[in-house]
Amino acid sequence: MNVHKTETWIGIIATGLIGIGLLWIAWREPTRLAFAQQAQLQTTLDEAMDLYAQNCSVCHGISGEGIGATPPLNNESLRQSDYSSLFKIIGRGLFGTAMPAWSKEDGGPLSDYQIGELVTLIQYGNWQETHDRVVNLGLAPSVPFTTQPNPTVLEQLSTLPQGDLLIQGVNLYAQQCVACHGTDGKGTTLAPALNDPLVQKKSIDELTRIILNGVPGTIMAGWQNTLNKDEIDALVTLITQWDKVPEGAIPAPSQPVPVTAESLALGKDLYAQNCSRCHGPEGQGTRRAPSLNVKGYLEKTNDAAIQQIITLGIPGTAMPSWGDRLSDAEIQAIVGFIRSWEPNAPEVALPARGGGGPWWKTNSSSGEIQGGGPPWMQKSNSSSPNSQYLPSGGSVQDRATNEQTKPTISDETQKGGPSLSQSKSTASQTTNIDWRAIILIAAISCFALILITIGISGLART
Ligand code: HEC
Ligand code: HEC
Ligand code: HEC
Repeated sequence: MNVHKTETWIGIIATGLIGIGLLWIAWREPTRLAFAQQAQLQTTLDEAMDLYAQNCSVCHGISGEGIGATPPLNNESLRQSDYSSLFKIIGRGLFGTAMPAWSKEDGGPLSDYQIGELVTLIQYGNWQETHDRVVNLGLAPSVPFTTQPNPTVLEQLSTLPQGDLLIQGVNLYAQQCVACHGTDGKGTTLAPALNDPLVQKKSIDELTRIILNGVPGTIMAGWQNTLNKDEIDALVTLITQWDKVPEGAIPAPSQPVPVTAESLALGKDLYAQNCSRCHGPEGQGTRRAPSLNVKGYLEKTNDAAIQQIITLGIPGTAMPSWGDRLSDAEIQAIVGFIRSWEPNAPEVALPARGGGGPWWKTNSSSGEIQGGGPPWMQKSNSSSPNSQYLPSGGSVQDRATNEQTKPTISDETQKGGPSLSQSKSTASQTTNIDWRAIILIAAISCFALILITIGISGLART
């Protein structure tokens, strides 16, 4: 009798446990669904941030804050706008403004799917994360958009035949074009060089037409509503006669390279791999190359200048050009890392003897400096020395880079995005949680089944 009672109790407990298990599943389901939706949203936002970095940050700012006359996108009223009106604005552009049309239908580079992703970003995105993404991709626009031309150079120009027109061109360029087309027209990651024989070979009519109408499907907007005929003539004059304008006429906007924790870590790694051998592990210099980690040097050299030195190298010295080996994002990461030394930089550096070890062990079979550069440059055929010594090699190289990184690289995003994009871990996280739940439920069920079996076999015995 006693045995029978125990077994009844076991049966009740077992049924209860199964019930709890089922309830638990029911209770988890909405959470699991929410997780799945969250993961889906995160994937969309992830892709949208790449698209934003490549196509929009140049005008709307590094974290959607707006630049100059371009409005911000990171505000509450846009967040609340409805999907279809945002979709329309982005797809078709705003006629008569610098906001271009982005949909393939209207001659732009983006698919409807991608435009939908951008709408999602505006409605649900995290702008701090977007900021970090733009920086990690090396696509942070140079803000302020404008610079002051060098006054001495302007004075020199005034003595030339078409001096007034050139001066007007330089001034306009410094106000409207320098942020994309770069210091002295040398090009940036965003737009090709204009101080370039290939562009100068174009006819005056063609250049005028490009500036008036822009280049559809790229961030080169048409300027017909912003600039008048005389102003466009002045810019065309500048482009075709750039040889007469001395270097340094239009300095870079001297804006620090923005950094993120990720870019600093990358910069540190890249520095250790590529630079420490010559410049010392802490930038203190070696017998081969000067120190970089010195107060005086860092104070008087801005980030844009350091970036340019690293990209183009110093022709005629052992300092190689890195522009064809490292991406712009990587070079900016190194600049950010070098800049991070500044607060603690010594007044005077004490050069280390070699690179990462005693100098005679650090693969210096290259015969070092006199040999014209480090071993990889000598091995890798003749093109490297060329790019090192060709004074204008930089602009050609810049063009090549631009072809790949110009802001219409939406295709690349579809292939999975540039290498720096963060791993999409959220989805797999959800699966982890799922598995744990399943194992737990299975364990509870097994336990209950065992109890039931005991119960039944007990009943059978009585
Ligand atoms: C060449 C510069 C430029 C680029 C690149 C650009 N925009 Fe714009 N955008 C503008 C300007 C200028 C306006 C404001 C036009 C006006 O109403 O005067 C604008 C307006 C907008 C608006 C409406 C804002 C509001 O407050 O009504 C949205 C949304 C927008 N842009 C999204 C985007 C997205 C998304 C991208 C990237 C795919 C992008 N833009 C790229 C210049 C640009
Ligand atoms: C928002 C960035 C941006 C601004 C600002 C900008 N451009 Fe451009 N520009 C571009 C891009 C990108 C291209 C390349 C388009 C392409 O892929 O063909 C380009 C191309 C050009 C070209 C054709 C170059 C060639 O290789 O054929 C000319 C000329 C030009 N821009 C002039 C100007 C002038 C003048 C200004 C200032 C009034 C200006 N741009 C402002 C982004 C910009
Ligand atoms: C093969 C040795 C070598 C390597 C590797 C090297 N550099 Fe240099 N670097 C030099 C030399 C030599 C100079 C000085 C050139 C001169 O005489 O003006 C220099 C100069 C510089 C300058 C300018 C310093 C100044 O005082 O004006 C910077 C900035 C710089 N290097 C950064 C880097 C970075 C960043 C890397 C790694 C990506 C790197 N270098 C890798 C040899 C090297």
